[in-house]
Amino acid sequence: MRIAILGGTGKEGAGLAVRWLQAGHEIVIGSRDADRARAKAAELTGAAPSGRVHGLANRAAAETGEVVVLAFPAVGVEATLREVKEACRGKVVISAVVPLTFGGGRLFTPPPVGSSAEQAQEILGPEARVVAAFHHIAAHELSASEHDIECDLLLCGADAEAKRAVAELAASLGLRVVDVGRSPTPARSRASRPCSPPSTAATSSRTPASRSPACPERRSAAIVRAGPAGAAVAPRGR
Ligand SMILES: NC(=O)c1ccc[n+]([C@@H]2O[C@H](COP(=O)([O-])OP(=O)(O)OC[C@H]3O[C@@H](n4cnc5c(N)ncnc54)[C@H](OP(=O)(O)O)[C@@H]3O)[C@@H](O)[C@H]2O)c1
Repeated sequence: MRIAILGGTGKEGAGLAVRWLQAGHEIVIGSRDADRARAKAAELTGAAPSGRVHGLANRAAAETGEVVVLAFPAVGVEATLREVKEACRGKVVISAVVPLTFGGGRLFTPPPVGSSAEQAQEILGPEARVVAAFHHIAAHELSASEHDIECDLLLCGADAEAKRAVAELAASLGLRVVDVGRSPTPARSRASRPCSPPSTAATSSRTPASRSPACPERRSAAIVRAGPAGAAVAPRGR
């Protein structure tokens, strides 16, 4: 799969890029500045020498990608998505954007509509297939690519087929996927295991997740649904 990561010069996008490169996907790093994108792509080639990675300006990256990932700060959603709207038509768009602003008095910066993913859907229009995912997987967890990722993937969105595509991409990173519904619903997210905080997850003492008894469903693209009381429930027949 050719995955365009807008804002891929940053911590979260570059972490996802490394992981997906290692899983055999092709990556297009997007940036507001094409030179910066190319420089990051060159850097990532070092991290995954056999991977295919290019750098382009955001709009060209979105045009090139089969799937588009939004990995830039919430403050950039409006301007960036207006620029790439046409390029995202008909594509799965994964929003990893978290509307937090660091360094001020308040962390949460409410988007104009319910969530950053819903804001993205509104700007991109109904032909973009927006799925919210990867919000809770920290950049440091992604960039420690010699270790498996020690948490589940929560996703939500209205397009079931798009969610299945994202589940496949997540499974290629070894993640179990928990579907928390059509739109972000914080109470339901209690169903998952969050990432270990850095202070309790010394990288040297981690058990690889694929071998950990706590992660029995790793490397499956099956989606686990979050139940009404917040408990993860497996689909029928599993
Ligand atoms: N860091 C984490 O652990 C983490 C975890 C989960 C989710 N997230 C979410 O993922 C997104 C990216 O996080 P990050 O930590 O990688 O952020 P970041 O490093 O601060 O920014 C990522 C990239 O976004 C671009 N950017 C910065 N300001 C922008 C603007 N106003 N408009 C458009 N593009 C802009 C920059 O690329 P160019 O200058 O090259 O365009 C930058 O390299 C955020 O929404 C964050 O909430 C982060």
